[in-house]
Amino acid sequence: MTDTDSKAEAVPRKPRKWLRRGFVGAVIVFLGLQLVPVDRQNPPVVADIVAPDDVKHILRRACYDCHSNETRWPWYSYIAPGSWLMAHDVKEGRNYVNFSEWGDYYDETDTAIMFQDECWDDIESGEMPLWFYLPLHPEAKLTDEDIATLKRWWGEEVNEEVAEDDASSSEDEEEDSSEPAQANAG
Ligand code: HEC
Repeated sequence: MTDTDSKAEAVPRKPRKWLRRGFVGAVIVFLGLQLVPVDRQNPPVVADIVAPDDVKHILRRACYDCHSNETRWPWYSYIAPGSWLMAHDVKEGRNYVNFSEWGDYYDETDTAIMFQDECWDDIESGEMPLWFYLPLHPEAKLTDEDIATLKRWWGEEVNEEVAEDDASSSEDEEEDSSEPAQANAG
């Protein structure tokens, strides 16, 4: 014990000066980083996705920070280098899917079906929302109930479409029912 104590005391004091200089240097670099401009704009919402309230609530909670023009910019989005990462993810995210512009590229009548087409793979595989977002936004984690709500949404829409298709195809049948009837007769 006493041996190691005396050894510790014997350590030369010089490295501490370098440590202090290194620390001051790091602080200066850190402050310098804050001067790099970061784009934290929220452009206007032009054609927000139309969905039932419960679905919309899930999307707002779990996706809107990166996939809409209604990003909530938290405190760490003002401090580099976190701010760069966040601005980059939002820019990328909006490029891929932007729920604030959804109505511009998809018809309102089959929103749920298009949503499934575009997003389901990423949700099911757990890729979205991005994993590193979750510790800071636990509310964004999709629960089994959320998943069930999303599935119910497009399940209903698919059923509606099937019902419509059935209705229109039976109309078609009625219109040209004479042909197959004749074929059968012959
Ligand atoms: C923390 C930011 C963030 C959150 C939250 C987030 N995403 Fe993403 N998303 C991204 C980024 C960045 C990309 C583009 C790069 C990539 O695929 O990783 C992306 C890509 C996507 C893509 C396109 C993938 C492809 O390869 O075509 C889909 C679909 C998607 N996200 C859906 C969602 C859905 C649905 C949610 C909510 C349940 C969500 N994202 C939440 C950042 C996010």
